[in-house]
Amino acid sequence: MAKPMFLRSAKRQFNFTMARLLFGNKSTAPHFALVGSGSANHLCQRILESGHQRVLIVTDRPLRDLGIASRACEVLINAGIDLIWYDGVQPDPTFTQVREGAQILREQACTAILAVGGGSSMDAAKIIAATLDSTDEPESWAGINKAPDTAAPLYAIPTTAGTGSEATMGAVITHEGDQSKVVISGAALLPVAVALDPDLLLALPPAITAATGLDALTHGVEAYIGIWSRGTSLETARMCVRGVAHWLPRVMAEPGDSEARLGMSMAAYYGGVAINQVNVGAVHAIAHQLGAFYHLPHGVANAMVLPHVLRVFGDSAKTSLEELAPLMGVSGAGAAIDAMESLRESVGLPGNSDAIKVADYEKITERALEESDGYFSPKILTGSDVGQVLRAITA
Ligand SMILES: [Fe+2]
Repeated sequence: MAKPMFLRSAKRQFNFTMARLLFGNKSTAPHFALVGSGSANHLCQRILESGHQRVLIVTDRPLRDLGIASRACEVLINAGIDLIWYDGVQPDPTFTQVREGAQILREQACTAILAVGGGSSMDAAKIIAATLDSTDEPESWAGINKAPDTAAPLYAIPTTAGTGSEATMGAVITHEGDQSKVVISGAALLPVAVALDPDLLLALPPAITAATGLDALTHGVEAYIGIWSRGTSLETARMCVRGVAHWLPRVMAEPGDSEARLGMSMAAYYGGVAINQVNVGAVHAIAHQLGAFYHLPHGVANAMVLPHVLRVFGDSAKTSLEELAPLMGVSGAGAAIDAMESLRESVGLPGNSDAIKVADYEKITERALEESDGYFSPKILTGSDVGQVLRAITA
């Protein structure tokens, strides 16, 4: 049962006031990105120059089997330093996977972590890094800024373009028991340095390119239309939306186009920079539940939910959507939403799913409202708003 609107509204106002007081226009921890073909090698060179002799590589088995993970860190391999591998990360990483990686980090006395992969590997690596000096259970860090103040130095080489995790201080980890997802964040989780190397994305399958691309678009849109802006959030959100609109169709048509791959990597990175400042919104709050209940891939769920939530926002998002519209080559808020829907369709992502069950609506709605109350979307969604979105995406 959702809480009364006046309570939700008062709590959100309190959170908003606190967020502005605590964060203001402060930037987050130091961080830099190396960009372009060969940048993964340059990042590895930086790791060597920092003096690390034992590095934990956090990745997933398919990337390792395909040789992509080794290729990403071949400079470290050729240098002959000790590389310790944890390749047990799976989509929607769990606390068990975090513990497995943390045990290796500790037992092998690694001094740095290099995450190679998509959002799952980077998110898992962040929480593994946070266990360096802490004996807390990682579950206790759920929430905003509750992660330890220190972590193992974390480097990241993303092999997808969408999650933006390489530019954020947050991670989403799943409880095995009820499959619920929690966000863990803290300044120490932001990677020290990342490489956006298009060469590692050239063989990314179309379905993953499409889903991660729409995830990036959702980050840009949600960061832009929310009631909170600070730092570079508006500027980077616009760069994200413009980049996805421009590069995603091209990369879908020409998967081996290195320039287009780099364009998408940059767009996704900008989206990450934007949400790292003002967070995501109600679209993610609903999409996360679809991931938890039905294992819908994150980007697929966001792509499905995005236009319907934007329509539910109505006038509250009208001006900001009008501003985003030209970046997508159209004019007007309605046309911007239509363009996002067309982009989803053109890259082959579904607009609905037969996995979604009417019997789950109430539980999904409850959890989605709970999560979305922690974000700063332009409108506080009601239970009937979420129901409208769910009906629209149920096949
Ligand atoms: Fe996302």
